[in-house]
Amino acid sequence: MINFDNPKNQKTILITGAAGFIGAALSIKLIDKDFNIIGIDNLNNYYSVDLKLKRLNLIKDKNNNKNLWHFHEFSLENAKELNDLFNIYNPNIVINLAAQAGVRYSLENPLSYVNSNILGFLNVLEACRKYKVEHLIYASSSSVYGGNKQMPFSERNSVDHPISLYAATKKSNELMAHSYSHLFDINTTGLRFFTVYGPYGRPDMAPMIFAKAILENEEIRVFNNGDMSRDFTYIDDVIEIIYRCCLKVATKNDNFNHFDPDPSESFAPYKVFNVGSNNPISLMNFIEILENALGKKAQKIFMPMQPGDVHNTFSDISKLQDWIKYTPQTSFEDGIKRFAEWYKNYFDYSS
Ligand SMILES: NC(=O)c1ccc[n+]([C@@H]2O[C@H](COP(=O)([O-])OP(=O)(O)OC[C@H]3O[C@@H](n4cnc5c(N)ncnc54)[C@H](O)[C@@H]3O)[C@@H](O)[C@H]2O)c1
Repeated sequence: MINFDNPKNQKTILITGAAGFIGAALSIKLIDKDFNIIGIDNLNNYYSVDLKLKRLNLIKDKNNNKNLWHFHEFSLENAKELNDLFNIYNPNIVINLAAQAGVRYSLENPLSYVNSNILGFLNVLEACRKYKVEHLIYASSSSVYGGNKQMPFSERNSVDHPISLYAATKKSNELMAHSYSHLFDINTTGLRFFTVYGPYGRPDMAPMIFAKAILENEEIRVFNNGDMSRDFTYIDDVIEIIYRCCLKVATKNDNFNHFDPDPSESFAPYKVFNVGSNNPISLMNFIEILENALGKKAQKIFMPMQPGDVHNTFSDISKLQDWIKYTPQTSFEDGIKRFAEWYKNYFDYSS
């Protein structure tokens, strides 16, 4: 039985995308647990670089001269620099969160997705192979479920019908990870995140876009006339899940059924999990909860569906619950309240 509260044998963990929303929160948690953290990020300007720098400052504050935090600014596409870093630090665990994220932007700038998510991830896999990393955890996404209609989404479902290039790159990551798990015995865990939100979140996602518009008396665009839903997952729950996955290495399934294969398991040391709340919130309900938390009404304009977006997401998390003995703890109302408080403070809307 793993003791998640007091892990023994502190290891070196390399986190890519460490200045990102999830990467920064994870770095803080793992420094708090006394792990030695190597952060990589290219600080690209897909969204506010200032926000990324602020997150890095929070990590530095948490480190507080304990010498557990080492940050390096470069792109994963730079295989030489990545190799040099592995050579210096020899990480035990690698957590790949760096990616070109966002569904809608993948229609405008497809090449950045192939560069960061495919070439960048290949470089990570190659380095893990060469330096014999104990465990590679990587970010996948609920968007891999694409055109699936069967709810809730289970890891047993087929994910062969992506409806955006972003989703296709995330599904590709799972396939690439499987081949490396099989060929080179690398333990890999893929995490399909479902709409992560909270303080220091991403400005290209609905909570931040809507909060800004509501507080500045601007209209919010409500896509598909409000007929959509998302399984939102609070950042603290996501971080606890990644942390627990760190301590529990992906294993081979010795009872793997080759004649009825479960896509999320394997004869190789490979696992894939949904990371969600198992609680879809309709778009209209989300807006109402956000209005209440901000203390202000939204001006809505109703719009058609956006290309690339999925209608609904809803995670079956039973497999993850079995694996790490954890269930997300934060209700959507509480999570949005904490997000709204942070947002007003951070952007100085308090008066
Ligand atoms: N936030 C969500 O709701 C969500 C949902 C599903 C999947 N994901 C995935 O989780 C991961 C983390 O997401 P996030 O919300 O923290 O995103 P984020 O954009 O805030 O973080 C990603 C970080 O990676 C960096 N980066 C991007 N490309 C890079 C490259 N080629 N080399 C080095 N650094 C690079 C960026 O500068 C950024 O700081 C991503 O892989 C994303 O696709 C997130």
